[in-house]
Amino acid sequence: MSVVPRVGGGKITVPELLQRKFAAAGFQDISRTEFGRGLAGELASGTRPAADSDAKKIVCLTAYDYPTARLLDEAGVDVLLVGDSLSMVMLGYESTLPVTIDEMLLLTRAVKRGVKRALVVADMPYGSYHGDTAEAVKNALRFVKETGAEAVKVEGGERRLELIARLTEAEIPVMGHVGLTPQSVNALGGFRVQGKTVDAAEQVMRDARAVEAAGAFSVVLEAMPRELAAQITRDLRIPTIGIGAGPDCDGQILVFHDLVGLTFGKTPKFARRYAHVGEVIAKAAREYCEDVRGGTFPSDGESYHAAQMVKEEKEETVNKDGDW
Ligand code: KIV
Repeated sequence: MSVVPRVGGGKITVPELLQRKFAAAGFQDISRTEFGRGLAGELASGTRPAADSDAKKIVCLTAYDYPTARLLDEAGVDVLLVGDSLSMVMLGYESTLPVTIDEMLLLTRAVKRGVKRALVVADMPYGSYHGDTAEAVKNALRFVKETGAEAVKVEGGERRLELIARLTEAEIPVMGHVGLTPQSVNALGGFRVQGKTVDAAEQVMRDARAVEAAGAFSVVLEAMPRELAAQITRDLRIPTIGIGAGPDCDGQILVFHDLVGLTFGKTPKFARRYAHVGEVIAKAAREYCEDVRGGTFPSDGESYHAAQMVKEEKEETVNKDGDW
C-alpha cells in the first residue's frame, strides 16, 4: 500500500507536508522512501539526489473563527493552527495559561467549518496534557473526534517524548513546539528568546530531535537565533515551522491578529504587519456612532415601507430566497 493517501481537491495532508521537506532535501517522492529509515539510509549511502531549491515553503497562520478561517483558506494558507494564543488575542488574558479545553474545542469547530483545503491543527491547551498520559491521549482524541482537527500541537521537547509517541500510536498526527514555549512562561520567567548560549542551543536541538524521534510530523521553532533554527532545519527530516526563528525554516507561522494589526500594545519584532484592521474597525465604529447620533443612519433607503411590505409578501411565494 502507498504511504501517501489520495485526497482530492488540493487538500493539504500530513504526507503532502512531509513530501515538501523530502523535495527540499532532494527526494522527489515520499512513497519511494520509507519515512525516517529511508532518508537516513540514502543519506548514509551517499545516494541523495540534488535538493530542490524551489521546494514550496509551508505557509501557516493561526485562526480562531469561521470567517477568518474561510478567508485564510481561500487565500491559500496551507496550515491553520487554532493556537492557544487565542487566550490572549481573542479572550484578553495576559497569557495562554487560562484557556480551557471546552473553549478551544468550540473555536476549533468554527475554524474547521470554514476550511476546505488547509490542514487544521488544534493546539492542546495548558493542563490538557501535563498530567496522566492516558488522560492527555483522551483529550487529544476529543479534538479529532469532536472538531475534525487533523492534527494536534503540544509544547515541549524531550519531556514530551512519551506523550508524542502515544498520540502517534493513536493515529493522531502531532506538531511539536520547541524554543520559546509560551505555556512555560512562569518557568522561563517571561517571553524570552531561547537558545542564545551554547548550552541552551544544544538543549533546543535535543528537544527538536526528541520531538522528531517520538514521531511528530513537524515542529514549531519559536523565538531563537536564526542560525540555530537553520541548523535544526538541516538536521531534521520533518518540516520546521518558524516563528521568530529566521527565514531558513521549512515554513513560517504568525499569529493572525499580529499580521493584520488587531492586537494591542507592543508586538514582537518578527511579527510583520500586513494591514491595519484595528484602525479600519475603529474608524467604521466611530462613523457609525456619528451617523446614529446625528440621525443620518438609517436613511430612508435603508428602511422598509408599509406599502412595499405588502407587495413583497406577495412576491415571497415566488422568490423563496427573500430579499434583504
Ligand atoms: O498558539 C499559537 O498561536 C502558537 C503559534 C505562535 C505557533 O503556538
